[in-house]
Amino acid sequence: MAGYVVVGTQWGDEGKGKIIDVLADRADYVVRFQGGNNAGHTVVVNGEKFILHLLPSGMLHGNGKCIIGPGVVVDPKVLLKELDTLEEKGAKVDHLFISDRAHIIMPYHIRIDELNEETSGENKIGTTKRGIGPCYADKINRIGIRAVDFLNMDIFAEKLKRFLEKKNQIITKIYESEPLSYEKILADYTGYADRLRHRIIDSIPEINKALDEDKLVLFEGAQAMMLDINYGTYPYVTSSSPTTGGVTTGVGVSPRKITKGIGVMKAYTTRVGEGPFVTELNDELGEKLRQIGGEYGATTGRPRRCGWLDLVVGKYAVDINGLTDIVITKIDVLSGLDTVKICVAYEIDGKRYDYVPASTEILYRAKPIYEELPGWKEDISQMKTYEELPENCKKYIKRMEEFLNCPISVVSVGPDRSQNIHIREI
Ligand code: GDP
Ligand code: IMO
Ligand code: MG
Repeated sequence: MAGYVVVGTQWGDEGKGKIIDVLADRADYVVRFQGGNNAGHTVVVNGEKFILHLLPSGMLHGNGKCIIGPGVVVDPKVLLKELDTLEEKGAKVDHLFISDRAHIIMPYHIRIDELNEETSGENKIGTTKRGIGPCYADKINRIGIRAVDFLNMDIFAEKLKRFLEKKNQIITKIYESEPLSYEKILADYTGYADRLRHRIIDSIPEINKALDEDKLVLFEGAQAMMLDINYGTYPYVTSSSPTTGGVTTGVGVSPRKITKGIGVMKAYTTRVGEGPFVTELNDELGEKLRQIGGEYGATTGRPRRCGWLDLVVGKYAVDINGLTDIVITKIDVLSGLDTVKICVAYEIDGKRYDYVPASTEILYRAKPIYEELPGWKEDISQMKTYEELPENCKKYIKRMEEFLNCPISVVSVGPDRSQNIHIREI
């Protein structure tokens, strides 16, 4: 049995897409278990860049099946556009399936997300405005529409009529905005359903059987540890569980079937949107990391906030996800610095914290306690073995490994599928 989970260990954009693509070469299934098209996962194949929002990052390897799992929220318009784009580029798309239990993002979810952000002033979350939060809220409130409803459009139409009536009251009366048209949504979604129906399946028996037969199933996380609805910097989080626990509820597999927890960790930290960020660099160095690392959102294009590596967050991610392996990414971006810093604890109101506190208000006051290490100058992006790496780069990796008490298995040194140093087999 081989169920590998790949999760982000920081605030997203660690390079999960690239790592999934690398591992997908030998996978029988790649399954998204949460989130939606708030994700932007970049895969670079022979210099050609693909950004995937809803499609699993295993799409570009034709070997296994790709599944959008029950815990995902699906915008069908975005999904069809992504499939069309891949097809135009000559990629295979017939290996993509959608769980019948996945919830559907409706135009009113997107509109309410936008209106809520626009009217929240300094309390806004900085969401991607893709309707993610409102869709998950309806799911929990038991007024969601699911992919299975695309299999019977009478049921779909009845639900749409009932739910839209109330949503339009919110849109017009609370936000004083224009109501959405039932006829237009029904016509658009009937078109989407017609094009997606043949891909809608009950994924639960198939994935469980695959695991029982010792096939390799990769569970692809979107977002990350610190954006987790339960454990992240609440309320500045997303509305799902991007941590390992999300796999059991988001795919319908037992925790006993998860054999590896692979955490993707950027060698420094970035964050998009609002919320506390203890090691943020609001200076020239932060700007330098943004430029060299190309730190602009793959979904919204927003500049990412940049800062030093935060191992308090890293340790939290190791514990909560039960990580068995860490993949470090973008360490090539740190080349050329005289010294590099690693945050090993926080100081808050004169007290040392080794763990992430629950209170966002307290976290805003945290000061990073750093260890400073010597930097390295060499361009490492073409290096293929651990031995070739500059001594100070190795020291950085070793210090991370020692602090986190978790093996570092792969070091990614560039965006391409081929730019990896394998230290131990995953
Ligand atoms: P994801 O959301 O975790 O999949 O990450 P994103 O795709 O949003 O952001 C990661 C960015 O870094 C993308 O532009 C990748 O092509 C790029 N990337 C991934 N790994 C590396 C690496 O090791 N070095 C460099 N320089 N870029 C990388
Ligand atoms: P990937 O999978 C980085 C952030 C948003 C915002 C918060 C809530 O590419 O790592 P939402 O639209 O989910 O309600 O927004 O979460 N966010 C991400 N940040 N990478 C992502 O995905 C993100 N998905 C959501 O910027 O702060
Ligand atoms: Mg991303």
